[in-house]
Amino acid sequence: MRESTAVPPTPVYDLEGRAIDPIAADDWHPVARSGDLLPGALMRSRLLGVSLVLWRGMDTGVQAWEDRCPHRSVQLSGGKIVENTLVCPYHGLAFDATGYCVQVPAHPDYVPPKQARARSFQVQEHYGVIFVALGTPTKPVVPFPEWDDPAYRTYLSGPHACRCSGLRAIENFLDVAHLPFVHAGILGEPEYAVIADYQVEMGDQGIKFSDVRIWQPDPDSTGQGGVVSYDYWALRPFTAALRKDVGNGNAMILLYCVTPVSEEECVSWMWGALNYARDASEADLIAFQDKVILQDVGNLESHHPKRLPLDLAVEFHLPSDRASLAYRKWLKQLGLTYGAIP
Ligand code: FES
Ligand code: CO
Repeated sequence: MRESTAVPPTPVYDLEGRAIDPIAADDWHPVARSGDLLPGALMRSRLLGVSLVLWRGMDTGVQAWEDRCPHRSVQLSGGKIVENTLVCPYHGLAFDATGYCVQVPAHPDYVPPKQARARSFQVQEHYGVIFVALGTPTKPVVPFPEWDDPAYRTYLSGPHACRCSGLRAIENFLDVAHLPFVHAGILGEPEYAVIADYQVEMGDQGIKFSDVRIWQPDPDSTGQGGVVSYDYWALRPFTAALRKDVGNGNAMILLYCVTPVSEEECVSWMWGALNYARDASEADLIAFQDKVILQDVGNLESHHPKRLPLDLAVEFHLPSDRASLAYRKWLKQLGLTYGAIP
């Protein structure tokens, strides 16, 4: 029997040469909407402090590269797509979809050395969005089966930029006690602010928070106020989900990913799927979600520190914060440091 020789993943460095937290680097992160990157086009994005150029050749899939020419380090995103190559704006070197330099206009017969290669990253498209992993992904992109289930209507809200750690944004998503105040009239009311105990379970898929109850003015789109019960999941450090069952087999599922652009900046993406409220248009559903997400920005950007403290003594905690507490403990256990104060 052959021994397995696992190759340790190569550390990923940002532009300043700092090693990037491998847990964050080895995960998939959304970087752009698929529909915004047409064949023959390129665009910029940023992930974990690394500037990216995203591009599609005329008949190649999407590419995600470090936005730096390996020749003299200018931004490749200032260049252009010619057929299935990206041409640098400075000396016109052309790089093919494997990242290799295939043409040097100043020396047509020159065979470029191996180092003449743009740094490329793994890329996949799911749910209308381009996902990139800077390192070696250990898991697939988070599954969202309802996205392809014809029984559900689906929509995407985002990208929404926010000047705080992505971990603060995920924790806010898991924070039920803010709903009556920040989202009064939509997701709660201050006079119904009491939060009952709820269940927390740690598992292979992250953390599950069950039966988180809150009064809402119109939880099932019937115009009647009532108590709703949510199940939440913290699936990955920068990914969470929520399921709201409204009875009769009807449910709404939200998938929430936050792109850690830097330690203190993030971009959020919210995918929704629901099999009720047939009257609401996709535009209505997106507008509602956009409104809720934008209501959170003021508090998220006013956090000080902007990164999430994992030392539980730094802030104090209430019984309703058990989701946040479990999340912070889990991040500490995983050893994640990006966007955190360890
Ligand atoms: Fe890109 Fe010279 S810097 S071709
Ligand atoms: Co909120």
